[in-house]
Amino acid sequence: MTDKYAKPVLNIDHYAVVGNPIAHSKSPLIHSAFAKQTNQEMSYERILAPLDSFEATIKELVAQGYKGVNVTVPFKFKAFNLCDMFTERAQAAGAVNTLTFKDGRISGDNTDGAGLVRDMTHNLKHILHNKRTLLLGAGGAAEGVLHPLLACELDGLVIANRTIEKAERMISRQVGALNQLSASTYADLNNPFDIIINATSAGLTDTELPIPNMVFAKDCLAYDMMYGRETPFMTQARANGAQVADGLGMLVEQAAEAFYIWRGVRPDTKPVIEMMRAL
Ligand code: ATR
Repeated sequence: MTDKYAKPVLNIDHYAVVGNPIAHSKSPLIHSAFAKQTNQEMSYERILAPLDSFEATIKELVAQGYKGVNVTVPFKFKAFNLCDMFTERAQAAGAVNTLTFKDGRISGDNTDGAGLVRDMTHNLKHILHNKRTLLLGAGGAAEGVLHPLLACELDGLVIANRTIEKAERMISRQVGALNQLSASTYADLNNPFDIIINATSAGLTDTELPIPNMVFAKDCLAYDMMYGRETPFMTQARANGAQVADGLGMLVEQAAEAFYIWRGVRPDTKPVIEMMRAL
């Protein structure tokens, strides 16, 4: 089949991460490490898309013969609208972080939730089945991981958010899993949880979330999807005896899942996580 936009003009397979801002993105480092480890001949770069022309940027990359891109803030929802087809988990999230360009069509996937679950289960060795779980936040980051979390047969999932209406709206869209889900404000949380995931952006401004200390059950895993800084949530969790993890493992695992979609090969993430930690 011919490409509906243009013929490929590149001689090795090109990929990129597209966002705005993008200079900070670690994805090129991670994908280069995967490519080297698995002997894949490919390139992966950062591309800054202007805020008002994400679609034109993607069409241009398709025209140039790129094979796929990762999409990051603030374009994950716009990217969803560009897709000709999706995976179920992308459809559930309403947002995509991985686009594949093939046979003139754009397919969308969302590997964020799978990356989070894989980091918690495979790297941090936590069993999620039957665990009382609390998800903090109801924005795009929370939405992106909800569907894969629900597939883990948790012992209930409470979504707490500053604006409770957003948590309630998020729940109302999960038709098949309503009995597992409930919404709460931070102040109304009054039970302990085995797994607590911070998907808010409050850590970016060093803002404490007003959650009571009793939410951290004995042997709790407190996971902050942010990486590269100690957030007030992590400090509070540590002070309450929780095992604390940042989002670096998730970053590498979501990239590995995208790499697998594009190249059909699963990289070994352990040495790449170690490399990223040492930077
Ligand atoms: P993202 O894509 O990172 O999820 P977002 O969609 O803007 O970004 O969502 C940010 C999340 O962090 C929301 O859950 C937001 O709470 P509200 O929905 O009430 O706005 C949460 N958040 C951001 N700053 C916060 C703060 N200072 N205190 C508490 N929650 C905060």
